[in-house]
Amino acid sequence: MSKDKVHIFDTTLRDGEQVPGCKLDTEQKLIIAERLDLLGVDVIEAGFPISSPGDFNSVHEISKLVKNASVCGLTRAVKKDIEAAAEALKMAKRPRIHTGIGTSDSHIKYKFNSNKEAIIERAVSAVKYAKTFVEDIEFYAEDAGRTDNEFLARVCEAVIKAGATVLNIPDTTGYCLPEEYGAKIKYLKENVTGIDKAILSCHCHNDLGLATANSIAGVINGARQIECTINGIGERAGNTSLEEVVMILRQHPTLNLDTNINSKLLYDTSQMVSQKMGVYVQPNKAIVGANAFAHSSGIHQDGVIKNRETYEIIDPADVGVTESSIVLTARSGRAALAYRAKNVGYELTKTQLDQVYEEFLSFADKKKEIMNEDIHDIIVASGISIEI
Ligand code: KIV
Ligand code: ZN
Repeated sequence: MSKDKVHIFDTTLRDGEQVPGCKLDTEQKLIIAERLDLLGVDVIEAGFPISSPGDFNSVHEISKLVKNASVCGLTRAVKKDIEAAAEALKMAKRPRIHTGIGTSDSHIKYKFNSNKEAIIERAVSAVKYAKTFVEDIEFYAEDAGRTDNEFLARVCEAVIKAGATVLNIPDTTGYCLPEEYGAKIKYLKENVTGIDKAILSCHCHNDLGLATANSIAGVINGARQIECTINGIGERAGNTSLEEVVMILRQHPTLNLDTNINSKLLYDTSQMVSQKMGVYVQPNKAIVGANAFAHSSGIHQDGVIKNRETYEIIDPADVGVTESSIVLTARSGRAALAYRAKNVGYELTKTQLDQVYEEFLSFADKKKEIMNEDIHDIIVASGISIEI
């Protein structure tokens, strides 16, 4: 049975770039956009054109450059925003306007000092107006995570009638539990008339560390687009991480879902975005962190050396990492030492290994990590006689 496609909507250049200190210039954004296109994302959210002349220009230039992906510009449900986005996107092969409004009680009361009926009217007018410029309209119900499902369904129904092609259901504050977010998507699938005409999209924030889990719960329950960023960069604790959702779907074939992403480009893309934004990837970050394929305890190392699958669920080559690493520390065992010694040219017999291992432990207790150059010193200090 062929797998259902989950569209990947990358918002590294919009939600990701909102992070303090991550500002990119147009040239840097163009390099990232080109890479995202090569990676195989379906939609690139290139920016928020009304927000500044620089952002407008970036969206305009990215629209000219991108060959395959749809290029999207964010707007509020405001005419002048929509006009700016339409203008910035006019050279795009596949332009998408992403418009929307807050739908939770707190947004309606505190942000808009309004009421539910007026919010639906504004949402519908924005979608209709955007539709006069481009065919592909995505509507976001900001703070959908805290919006009651019945009202959310009414909003969705109204904007589909007005011409929305994608319905973004953001957990803007990262509050939902996966079960709750999944149930929200299921409710919309089952209760919104006309839902078959639109794609439901998950846009989850990571305030409680649940962005990836919530997005996966969303697609299990019928959403077919995930909004995410490279390295999970984004407002506050970040957005759903692209590399995580792509690899979860790939490593779990029974879900019957997949994306168009060329996963072999994930590691390099992560590094490139990290360098351009000046934000380091945490070493224990899933999929692309420096330690994602590094084994340092003796028990794990012994297993991995015998067969990689004992402690690795992903072949590092599938995400563009050359190979797993066996890190030598005071927690490493003989198997790891023999393996690393062999890699630098020393084939040790069992007796030699026992002797070198004693020396290794006294070195390793004084250092965080034993490097290749230390191995030679350890072998010399152990007193064994061996040629390289
Ligand atoms: O988190 C959010 O609600 C957003 C919307 C503007 C789509 O980023
Ligand atoms: Zn967001």
